[in-house]
Amino acid sequence: MCGIVGYIGKQEAFPILISGLQRLEYRGYDSAGVAVLDGGLQVRKKQGKVKNLSDLVKANPIKGTVGIAHTRWATHGAPNDVNAHPHVVADGSFALVHNGIIENYATLKEELIRKGYEFHSQTDTEVLANFILEIKRKTGLPLEEAFRQALTQVVGAYGLVLIAEEYPDMILAARNGSPLLFGIGEDEYFIGSDASPFIEYTKQVVYLNDGEMLKVTRDGYEVKTIQNEILDKEVHVLEWELEEIEKGGYDYFMLKEIMEQPESLRNTMRGRVRVEENLIRLGGIEEVIDKIANARRVIICACGTSWHAGLVGEYLIESLAGIPVEVEYASEFRYRNPVLFPDDVVVVISQSGETADTLAAVREGKSRGCLTLGLVNAVGSTIARETDAGIYLHAGPEIGVASTKAFTAQVTVLTMLALRLAQARKTMTPAEMKSALVELEAIPEKIQEVLVKAEEIKEIAKVYRYASNFLFMGRGYNFPVALEGALKLKEISYIHAEGYPAAEMKHGPIALIDEFMPVVIIAPQDAIYDKVISNVEEIVARRGSVVGITDATDLKEVAHLYEYVIQIPKTQDFLTPLLTVVPQQLLSYYVAVLRGCNVDQPRNLAKSVTVE
Ligand code: M6R
Repeated sequence: MCGIVGYIGKQEAFPILISGLQRLEYRGYDSAGVAVLDGGLQVRKKQGKVKNLSDLVKANPIKGTVGIAHTRWATHGAPNDVNAHPHVVADGSFALVHNGIIENYATLKEELIRKGYEFHSQTDTEVLANFILEIKRKTGLPLEEAFRQALTQVVGAYGLVLIAEEYPDMILAARNGSPLLFGIGEDEYFIGSDASPFIEYTKQVVYLNDGEMLKVTRDGYEVKTIQNEILDKEVHVLEWELEEIEKGGYDYFMLKEIMEQPESLRNTMRGRVRVEENLIRLGGIEEVIDKIANARRVIICACGTSWHAGLVGEYLIESLAGIPVEVEYASEFRYRNPVLFPDDVVVVISQSGETADTLAAVREGKSRGCLTLGLVNAVGSTIARETDAGIYLHAGPEIGVASTKAFTAQVTVLTMLALRLAQARKTMTPAEMKSALVELEAIPEKIQEVLVKAEEIKEIAKVYRYASNFLFMGRGYNFPVALEGALKLKEISYIHAEGYPAAEMKHGPIALIDEFMPVVIIAPQDAIYDKVISNVEEIVARRGSVVGITDATDLKEVAHLYEYVIQIPKTQDFLTPLLTVVPQQLLSYYVAVLRGCNVDQPRNLAKSVTVE
C-alpha cells in the first residue's frame, strides 16, 4: 500500500521526509517522490527504492521546511518516474500525493481534456489534482475551499496531502477509506499514513476519519468534515513502538493481511460491482470481452495459491457462464506442448506478476496466437505488461510469504469475471444477476463476521498444534479451498498436510485416518451438503478428529461428528470459498505461531519465485 509523509515546522523537511519514507518501506512500493516548498515547489521522484530518490536529491539538493513525500504502489499506470507522486498541477502551483483509487477519474479526465488540460502520467492522482485546480480557477475560491468542493464530487478512496506555492505555510490533507493521521510536535506537525514516519518526534496524534479534511499551518491545525463542519478532534497518545506500527499492531504481516481482507476485497470490487445498474464492469478487459465470451476454452495457468484460485475459477466460469475451462500448473503447461487453438483464451493468475513459470505460460499462449489475460496484483509487473489485457486485484501489497488476501482477491476477480461473462452470454437472468451482485457486495462484511472468531480458532489451534499430519477436505467450490488450507498449513507450520475432494477419501486417503489424524472438513449447506456429511461419518467411524467449517445452523443431527465447529455466515454456493478459506488461514496461522515458526518468512520459501 502506498505511504504518505508530510512535514511543516522549523526543521529542514527533506531529512524527515526521506527517513519517514524509509520507515514506510515495509508497506511495499515501486517508486518514491518528494516535494518541498522553498519559494517555489521543488519536486523529485524516482522509480524503485527510496535510496534511488535519496541519491537523486543528493545530486540535486532541495531545501525548505514544508514538504510532502510518497511511496507509490502502482494502481493506475506502470511504476515509473512519471507516474510516481507527487503530481504537480498544470500551472505548477501545487503538488499532491495520494493513496487509494479515484473511481470516477476517467469521467473527470475526459471533462478536463475537453477543457484543454494535458496529462503526463497515467494516474488517477494527476486527474484529481487538476480537477481541484479547475474548481479553483472556475470559482476563484481559495485553494482550501476548492480542495473541499472537489472532494464532494470525487468517488473512491483516498488519503491526500497537498502543498502549494501560494500558501507556503500550509498543508492540506483529507481521508476517505485510506488511513491518515497527524502528529503534533513542538511548533511542528507531521502527517503520515501511519505513525511510523514520525514516532521519534512525537507520540501525540490525531486520527482523521473518513470524510474529514485537515488544514495545518505553522501555528495550528483545523479539522473539518468535507461537508464543512468544524470538528473538535481528540488527541491520542501513542503507546506502540515502531515495529508494532508497521504491522498495524499485529504480531505478523500475515495476520495483518488476513484481517485486512474485508477492506482489500472492497478495493477489489470498487467501481466494478455495480449493483444499481445490475452489472459488472471490468475496465481492463471490456475491449476483448466478446472474444473471451466466445472462446472455445478458457485455459487458466498459475502456481501455488494462485493455481488454487484458478480451480475455483474453473467451477465459477463453467457453472455461471458455461464456457469450458481447463486449469494447468504453469510449470507443466510450458513444457508439455499443450494443444492450443487461436480461439482459446489463456488466463494467468499471479500475485507478484513475476513468477517465472506463469510468465512462461503467457509467452507460450501468445506464441500460439491465443488472447492472454493477466489477473495480477502487482501493477506494472512483467506479467501485467506482457499479457494482452487483464484485471488487477487491487489487494494492496502482500508481504507475508503465505498468500492470504491475494487469494481472496483472486477468487473475487474470478467471480466478477464469471459474472461478466454470464452477462455477455446471457446465461443468467437479471434477477439471478441481481441477487449474485448483492451477495458478492456483502462478502466483506461476512468475512468480518468470520474474523471475529480468531480467538476461538486460536483455541482450536492449541489442541492440534502438535499434530504431525493434517487432512483438508471439501467438495465442489470448496475442493480447491481444501487444497489451499493444506498448502497454507504446510508452508508456515511445516506440518505435513494434504487436501482432497471429500469423496476421494475412500479411494485411498481413508487408510490414513486414525485418532492422530485431524481432518478439516469444509461443509457449507449447499447442494452437496449431505454427501459431505456422509464423508464426515466415514472419518468419525475410523476415529478421525474432525474440525468442521460450516454455515449450517441446525447442527443437532451432526454435532456428535465434530470435535470443533467453526461457524461461517450463509451466502450463495458459488461465494462460499471466500468465507470458508478464512478460518483455514487463521487456523494455519495460529498453529504455526504456537509452534514457534516465523510465519512471515517460512524456511526455504520466497515471496516471488522468479526462477524455474
Ligand atoms: O506471485 P504468484 O501468485 O505468481 O505466486 C505463486 C506461488 O508462488 C504462491 O502462491 C505460493 O504458493 C505462496 N507461497 C502460497 O502461499
